[in-house]
Amino acid sequence: MAVHLRNISKRFGHLVANDRVDLDIRSGEVLALLGENGAGKSTLMKILYGFYQADAGTITLDDRPVTIDSPQTAMGLGIGMVFQQFSLIENLTVAENLLLASAQAPRWQWGDRQTWVKANSCLKTLGPSIHPQTLVRDLSIGEKQLLELVKVLDAQARVVILDEPTSVLTPLETQQFWQLVRQLAEQGHAVVLITHKLADVFACADHIAVMRKGQVVDVSSAKARTTADLVHLMMGEAVSSTLTVISPPTATPKLELCNLSAGSSLALKNIQLTLSPGEILGVAGVAGNGQSILAEALAGTLPLTQGEVRLNGQVLHRVGQPSPISPDLAYIPEQPLQNGVAADQDLVTNLVVKDLPRMAFFPNRKAQRSRSLRLLQAFNVQPPDPDRPAMQLSGGNLQKLVIARELSGDPQLIIACYPTMGLDISAAEFVYEQIFHHARAGACVIWISEDIDDLLQYAHRVAVLFRGEIIGLAETANVSRQQLGQWMTAGRAA
Ligand SMILES: Nc1ncnc2c1ncn2[C@@H]1O[C@H](COP(=O)(O)OP(=O)(O)OP(=O)(O)O)[C@@H](O)[C@H]1O
Ligand SMILES: [Mg+2]
Repeated sequence: MAVHLRNISKRFGHLVANDRVDLDIRSGEVLALLGENGAGKSTLMKILYGFYQADAGTITLDDRPVTIDSPQTAMGLGIGMVFQQFSLIENLTVAENLLLASAQAPRWQWGDRQTWVKANSCLKTLGPSIHPQTLVRDLSIGEKQLLELVKVLDAQARVVILDEPTSVLTPLETQQFWQLVRQLAEQGHAVVLITHKLADVFACADHIAVMRKGQVVDVSSAKARTTADLVHLMMGEAVSSTLTVISPPTATPKLELCNLSAGSSLALKNIQLTLSPGEILGVAGVAGNGQSILAEALAGTLPLTQGEVRLNGQVLHRVGQPSPISPDLAYIPEQPLQNGVAADQDLVTNLVVKDLPRMAFFPNRKAQRSRSLRLLQAFNVQPPDPDRPAMQLSGGNLQKLVIARELSGDPQLIIACYPTMGLDISAAEFVYEQIFHHARAGACVIWISEDIDDLLQYAHRVAVLFRGEIIGLAETANVSRQQLGQWMTAGRAA
């Protein structure tokens, strides 16, 4: 099957998200779609998926013009999309989520044997480790990602669009995912892979299309391109790294985690740890081993069941007494759309919400708005329009919005979950620089990441979580990638 997008344009108000785009997608191939945050990648693919209607342009499938006015129509034509933000229902089981997604399963057929058998067999082939009766909220991020893919393939998609599928996968999960993507192409699917990770591109892609400011500026064979070419094409200029590793901190404790336990289904158990001022502690682990519980417990959004958290010698959280909103605390949660913003509120509200207790300083909308505008500009949130609702931002710009709010004050403790997820190269560098800036000023940083190389390069120590416990803790100067990998997967030291 061949899909041709011709002359596609899409505006949101005055903003031109897609500007006369031509793109060819062919079966048996993986097309990587690259571009900086806000370049128009998701919008273009949402048009192909019928989620948005283009203002102009045509789409042909095998030379037949088609009108795709809804995702149902798209699925009927064999086009499926896995969104940048998950669309799973957390409190339903894996099997129920598959049934809900199945176009052939009207409500009266729920539980119909054939549908179950079909959903389960698709699950078995693609995600053999996922049990159909598991609640989705108990899956790791990698498993959720896989389930999203199963949903699309179960609906018999011949064109599979993946919007940043590897952002939070561990190295092992990522490799399995690459294999799956290659397999899909070899089986004759047409795959579009939107990603910011050039490793994804070189592992999977046959062709590469680069978007900039709503236009496709380059299409080439993957073999013909180097990393430097791609960075140049995406950013329009050479990005030179200015990041410097910061020196190890002194030994006085600033943050103390005293015998912490939290959570119920997968509990965090007896975490005992101290951090010095300015220390960056990387937290690695296969997703679902307690990282998000640790983050929430430290942020004060999940009650402790035992122990306490002390900052600068004072109790920050204790059992029955969390303090989630404190000017000392910066929390960049995973999945910011679900956990970090009020999606239908404007950017001003989202930016000033933490200042509510101190609102006397920003008494009126005008002052809030101008402060917001400064933040949007400083953190390069595009478009920097304080009055638009957060949900209108592109995935990466939404991430920048949360970071702008959290890192704009003078935090003493930064809890950063996958802080550069979904960010383009220059935005990611900027965010690291902001975090390091606060660390230099003495803030403790708990940095949860799937990127072991970044952890080894920039963190002072790395802790590996396995089934809710710290299974390994080492200074980054003295630990190897292999050792971390072993802790992460086997849960035991080499
Ligand atoms: N529903 C919407 N309403 C208004 N503007 C929108 C909407 N969706 C997207 N936009 C705007 O269109 C532009 C392109 O957004 P899009 O989501 O396609 O970017 P992207 O290339 O996927 O970026 P990212 O890498 O950050 O996900 C952005 O400026 C975004 O703010
Ligand atoms: Mg996007």
